[in-house]
Parts: sequence; C-alpha cells; structure tokens
Amino acid sequence: MDNLFLIDVVSRIVHIATAIVLIGGSTFMAFVLLPTAEKLDQAAHEQLRSLVNGRWKRFVHAGILLFLVTGFYNYFRQMPNHEGDGLYHALIGTKILLALGVFFIASALVGRSAAFENMRASRAKWLKIIVLLAAVIVGMSGFVKVKGPAPKEVPAAVAQ
Ligand code: HEM
Repeated sequence: MDNLFLIDVVSRIVHIATAIVLIGGSTFMAFVLLPTAEKLDQAAHEQLRSLVNGRWKRFVHAGILLFLVTGFYNYFRQMPNHEGDGLYHALIGTKILLALGVFFIASALVGRSAAFENMRASRAKWLKIIVLLAAVIVGMSGFVKVKGPAPKEVPAAVAQ
C-alpha cells in the first residue's frame, strides 16, 4: 500500500459511479422516457424534451470531465503493472477511442449546435448506440481488470 492508495480508491469509485449514473440515465431515456414521451402531444413532448435536456446536460458535461480525470489517472497508475503488455494497452487504447465517440454523441444530443440537428432528430437511435458502445466499454474494462498484469517473462538463464 503506498501513499496514493486513498486517491486510487476514490478515483476508481468515482469512475465506476460516473459510469453507473451516465449509462443508467441513458438507458432510462432510450427505453423508458423517450417511448413514453412520444405518446404525448407534440407541444407537450417538445416542452418535456427541452426541460429534461436542460438538466441532463449538466450530468453529461460533469460526467465527461470525471471520466477523463479519473480514467487517465487510473491509466497512469496502472502503467507500471502492464509494461510490455500489448493486449492491455491495445484494449485500453480502443476503449478510450470508443469512450471519446460516446462523449461526442452525448454532447451532440444535449447541445444546440445546428450542425448536429440531424442527430437530435433521431435521438432514439443515437441513445441506443450510446448504450451499446457503453456496454462494450464496460465489458473491455472488466476484462482488463480481471485479466490483471501480463505474467513476467523469466529469462532463459534463470528458468533453467
Ligand atoms: C464511457 C466511458 C467509460 C466507461 C463506461 C468506463 C467504465 C469503466 C469501468 C466500469 C471500469 C472498472 C473496471 C473494474 O474495475 O472492474 C473502468 C476502469 C478503467 N477505465 Fe474506464 N470507462 C470510461 C471511460 C474511460 C476513459 C475516458 C479512460 C481513460 C482516459 C478510462 C480508463 C480506465 C482505466 C485505466 C481503468 C482501469 C483498468 C484496469 O483495471 O487496469 N475509462 N472503466
């Protein structure tokens, strides 16, 4: 146990808690809120969409910040345990790229940029894509965690 132990624990908890809140919220919206809101009349639906968006936007922006800070901290702390572990770095690298994709879609959906209006018009599809990508990311994260460090190669002279 070193003097960064407490920060390591807090960082891991915050990272996982952020995943729970953001993936849970996105799943609720994709499979419960949106299909229900579509049963409202157009004006009520628009009003609900704008009110929910205004509040959810804060969760998305804070969540992206927390993911990046705790994710890079975890990565730098894990690096010494995974020297020469190509599979670990390939999986974490792919995971980071997928996470950036999720951050982009989530930001576009809560944003106001006219460039992403067509994405907001098919919000149900993009929310489901977020949930799918997030499930893949959680799977990859869980795998690298359980896999642990690559076994150290024993030099031939020592092995004999
Ligand atoms: C959609 C965004 C993300 C999700 C859903 C997510 C999810 C998770 C989960 C559930 C774990 C815990 C695995 C476990 O302890 O069993 C984890 C660990 C980790 N995450 Fe993320 N994460 C995301 C973004 C990021 C980003 C952006 C980074 C890096 C910049 C990152 C780096 C890491 C690292 C290094 C670990 C520890 C892996 C290990 O045990 O060696 N994550 N992530």
